[in-house]
Amino acid sequence: MKTYSIAVIPGDGIGPEVTREALGVLTAAEEVFGFQTRRTLYPYGSEHYLKTKEIFPDAAFEETKAHNAIYLGAIGDPRLPIGLIEYGIIAKMRFELDLYINLRPIKLYDESLCPLKDKKPEDVDMVIVRENTEDAYVGAHGFTHKGQHHEVATQTMVYTRIGVERAIRYAFELARTRKRKQVTLIDKANAVRAQDIWTRTFAIVAREFPDCKTDHAYIDAACMWMVKNPEWFDVAVTPNLFGDIITDLGAMIQGGMGIAASGNIHPGRVSLFEPIHGSAPKHAGKNTSSPIAAIMAASMMLEYLGEKQAAAAIDQVVGDLFRSKRLKGVQTGMHSCTEVGALVASELRAVAAKV
Ligand code: IPM
Ligand code: MG
Repeated sequence: MKTYSIAVIPGDGIGPEVTREALGVLTAAEEVFGFQTRRTLYPYGSEHYLKTKEIFPDAAFEETKAHNAIYLGAIGDPRLPIGLIEYGIIAKMRFELDLYINLRPIKLYDESLCPLKDKKPEDVDMVIVRENTEDAYVGAHGFTHKGQHHEVATQTMVYTRIGVERAIRYAFELARTRKRKQVTLIDKANAVRAQDIWTRTFAIVAREFPDCKTDHAYIDAACMWMVKNPEWFDVAVTPNLFGDIITDLGAMIQGGMGIAASGNIHPGRVSLFEPIHGSAPKHAGKNTSSPIAAIMAASMMLEYLGEKQAAAAIDQVVGDLFRSKRLKGVQTGMHSCTEVGALVASELRAVAAKV
């Protein structure tokens, strides 16, 4: 039987509870589709840091790398210095594992989930390809005269030809597998002039994909179009920081933060899957958060590992639960976390029984 090794970092806040439900769905998928996962749990996150002053020791990092995939619940805690744990765990993996794609599908399962007027599932079905290793995230920042009234703070946005090109190429290859075959470049090259490298590289790579349509939007306009005309987007490729921001907007138009999942991917290598929501400390341990985003992250992980049928079945089951209104949505308190996890797992088993 096929066996996959998964490093699991449940993390902080609601991370552990949504991870538990996602792993329950994973177990159901294993039974139904005939594969196995070997899971290693890692305790890293803010709670662990507060207890031990340890963020993500090198030895543990080396170990996680040796798995087929890494699964993360959520990390972050307001008691810690801003950015410490984010850079120490998530950014560390993105950078040191060179996970250069942050893949963020935005798919509306049912009209009732969408806060936009008159938008239907066929209007909201896009994938944001967020470049994941460059831009303002490279950590090139500094302060001079810190704390004084003439203090200067700088942070450099870095784009390399290799980094930009591989993200754009990934977007086109993805578009090729989709019905509409369209790639939109989202940037701000009119103001951030360094992003001219995106404009030029996009034009060059596009020539290799004559079967794909191209489009362009500045990030400010893209925010507007995503609300007004989300149906204009199929695959969109964008620098790291804009990708971070616009995918929270995207999560809202598909029903809320509790639904949106992501894969931090280096094709062919160990990759990291996580819901895009944070740790939501004030809801932690209350069993009121939706595990759907975490479950969809598990589905993306299975797709990546090659268990495509299992991945598609989870997507189908979750979609059906929304369409039949057995799941009303993903807002806090609408359903309990454990109820949703159990429902998805049992529906998955039921689907399989019929096949
Ligand atoms: C995300 C998050 C991270 C990011 C934070 C936690 C550093 O917002 O994955 O979208 O900015 O990339
Ligand atoms: Mg974000």
